[in-house]
Amino acid sequence: MAKISVIVAVAEDGAIGRDNSLIWRLPNDLKYFKALTLGHTIIMGSNTFRSLPSGALPGRENVVLSRSVTEIPGATVYKSIEEAVDALKEQDEVYVIGGAQIYKQVMPYADKLYVTEVAASFPDADVFFPKIDKTIWQEVSRQDNPIDEKHKYAYSFVVYERSC
Ligand SMILES: NC(=O)c1ccc[n+]([C@@H]2O[C@H](COP(=O)([O-])OP(=O)(O)OC[C@H]3O[C@@H](n4cnc5c(N)ncnc54)[C@H](OP(=O)(O)O)[C@@H]3O)[C@@H](O)[C@H]2O)c1
Repeated sequence: MAKISVIVAVAEDGAIGRDNSLIWRLPNDLKYFKALTLGHTIIMGSNTFRSLPSGALPGRENVVLSRSVTEIPGATVYKSIEEAVDALKEQDEVYVIGGAQIYKQVMPYADKLYVTEVAASFPDADVFFPKIDKTIWQEVSRQDNPIDEKHKYAYSFVVYERSC
C-alpha cells in the first residue's frame, strides 16, 4: 500500500480556489510543491487537471480521477480513488494534489498532509478544504514565511502526520 500524502494550499477560511483556478500567487509555494512532487506520482481530479495551464505536469506521473473521461493526454485516468490506489500500491508514496472533491474523499485514507497555510480569507472562493481535525492530525513541522515583494500574503509550510 502506497503512503498517501495530501498537498494543499489553504486560506484561513478553508478557501482553496475560485472559478477552477487558484486565488493567490505565491511563487515559493509553487517551488515547494515542485520540490515535493518531482519524480513522484500525483493524483488529481479532472477539474484540477483542466486548471493546469500547460496540461500534465512534467517530471511526474500524472494520474487523473474521472467518472466520465477515459483518456487524457499525458495522464493515466482512473474511474475511482480505490482503482487508483490499487493500481499504485507498489509505490512508496503518492501525492494527492486536489481539488476539493478529491481532498474530501481521500482524507480518510491519507497518511500525511503538506499544508501551506495562507494568512488571508477569501469569502468569494467557491471550493474549500475540509477542516483539519487536530485530534487526528499532529503538526510535526512548521516554517513561517512573511509577506515580501513577491508574496502578498504571509504563508506557512506545515506538515501533519496522522496520530490515529
Ligand atoms: N489551493 C490548492 O492547493 C488547490 C489544489 C488543487 C486544486 N485547487 C482548486 O480546486 C478547484 C478544483 O476542485 P474541484 O473540487 O472543483 O474539482 P476536482 O476535485 O479537481 O475534480 C472533480 C472531478 O473529479 C472527478 N471525481 C471526483 N470524485 C471522483 C471519484 N471518486 N472517482 C473518480 N472521479 C472522481 C470528477 O470528474 P468528471 O466530472 O470528469 O467525472 C469530478 O468532476 C480549482 O479551483 C483548483 O484551482 C486548489
